[in-house]
This record gives sequence, structure tokens and C-alpha cells, in this order.
Amino acid sequence: MTVLEVIQKSTEFLARKGVESARLQTELLLAHALGLPRMKLYLNFERKLTDAETDTMRELVRRRSLREPLQHITGTAPFAVWEMTVNRHVLVPRPETELLAEAGWQFLSNINSPPPTALDFGTGSGCIAIALAAKRPNARVTAVDNSSEALAVAKQNAGRNGVAARIEFVQSDGFTAIPAGSRFNLIISNPPYIPSAEIATLQPEVRDFDPHNALDGGADGLDFYRQLAAKAPDWLAPGGKLMVEFGDGQAPTLEKLFAEQKWIVEAVRSDYSQRQRILIAQRG
Ligand SMILES: C[S@@+](CC[C@H](N)C(=O)[O-])C[C@H]1O[C@@H](n2cnc3c(N)ncnc32)[C@H](O)[C@@H]1O
Repeated sequence: MTVLEVIQKSTEFLARKGVESARLQTELLLAHALGLPRMKLYLNFERKLTDAETDTMRELVRRRSLREPLQHITGTAPFAVWEMTVNRHVLVPRPETELLAEAGWQFLSNINSPPPTALDFGTGSGCIAIALAAKRPNARVTAVDNSSEALAVAKQNAGRNGVAARIEFVQSDGFTAIPAGSRFNLIISNPPYIPSAEIATLQPEVRDFDPHNALDGGADGLDFYRQLAAKAPDWLAPGGKLMVEFGDGQAPTLEKLFAEQKWIVEAVRSDYSQRQRILIAQRG
């Protein structure tokens, strides 16, 4: 079969299996199978695949048809200008989280003395911590997660992106194992925020492949925000800020929750689809 025929057949097959953007997904899988940039496929529509290439592509399409995320199949996901290795132990980084990281590094750039410090709470693939360390070379970043498997991926990603020496990785259930006396200018988090009962209703790519531990925010999805609102003040340096991502529709409840715990909610920002997704607060 030619490149074009493979694209057409695989697109049809994946669309029948309910995969969104089936053509784009097919092209990305084929580019991966052939070791080519996706755009090069367009210059090679008439090229015939070898038997080995056909077998490889068939296997990739089979996995995607079972709704395994593209990023798990290729083993990598973009996060702004960085690439993150991903697997079943970490959440696949989402585009809206780039906006959270950007708010974080912009805030850190205003802190001149002594080196700014940041805590990434629930680091997963390490994407936020790595972005902060890469954009603010003078910052000291601590990245915590309760999953040792996630931390192993985050460390690998820090190495891959050249910032391993400037991030301290701590396995911690919430704040419990963070060294006593630490104070951070920035506490930043994309915590689990899906209400437990809603997880079963999510797309298979998320429900069956993102770690449950990265999704489950408790009965109403807000357990981690309650924990952050109550405990983050003990870990914030004077003038420090808390920046959190949250789920679509959670903004009003969260603004109330943080205000009740004596936080001043300074901003609620929207994602690329104009949905409110990021809350920035400081202590009153
Ligand atoms: C929604 S994911 C975010 C991952 C990454 N920061 C991102 O934005 O892509 C939440 C992360 O919190 C971690 N987590 C869940 N419960 C935790 C706990 N009790 N203490 C620390 N981390 C926890 C999960 O392992 C997961 O990596």
C-alpha cells in the first residue's frame, strides 16, 4: 500500500472506532512509524510502505483504535517548547497547563532577591517544574508527587530538558514530606480535580490511560483545593502566590472556598477556549 492509501484506510478505521480527529491522528502515527516529520508524508503520498513498515503501522493503529492516547504510543508529548516523556504513570500534559506554567514563570521573574523558590505540587511528568526551571535559571524548584513512578518520569524529563540539577524531587503525600522550614515564593499546582463519580464518564483515552491518582479529586473534585487553601499558607514566603489550575465550571465554588480561608483571589484566568481554568491568590 502507498502512504496515501494507508492514511485513507487507517483514518476510516479510527473514525469508526470513535477516535477524534482521525485523519490527523493517523498522519501522526504514520509519521512516527516511518520516522518522518508529518509534513513529509505529503511529499511521499505515492511511496510504497515496506512489509516491516506496514506491520509497524498496523500495530500502532490497533493500539490507537483501543483508545490508547497517541502520546502513550509515541511515548512523548509537547509542553510549550519542551518535550515530555509520558507513560501510564503520568498525566499527559494538557495545553491549558502551559498557561499556568507561564503565569508561574512570569511571577518568578519579578522576584530578584534571593533566588526565587517554587513548589510544584503534584508534578506528574514534571512539565510545570521543568518549564519554571528552564525559563528562570536562577530559581530553585521543588517538585512533589506521591507517586514514585511519576517522579521517576519527571526526573527523566528534567534530564531530557537539561534542568535536572535545579529541581529537587520529593515523594510526598501532599505537604507531609516537604522539608520543614521550607518557604516558597510560588506554590503552583494542577491537582486532581475530577469528582470521583465522573471519572467513569470520561473519554476512554483519559478514563483508561491517565493514572486514576492524577484525576480523582474526591467526591466533589475539590479535595486538593481544600488542602491547598488550608495548608499552603504555612509554606508560602511573605508576598508569595498560589496558582492553581481547576476544572471547567469550578471557578465560583473555588473563589468562595479560597476567600473563606482568608485568601485574596487576585485573578481567575481563562484557557485557549475562553473557559476559566486558573486561579491566582495570595494571603490577605
Ligand atoms: C492532574 S495531575 C498533574 C500532573 C502535572 N503537574 C500536569 O500538570 O500535567 C496531578 C498529580 O498529582 C499527583 N497526586 C495525587 N495525589 C497526590 C497527593 N496526595 N500528594 C501529592 N501528589 C499527588 C498525581 O500523582 C499526579 O501526578
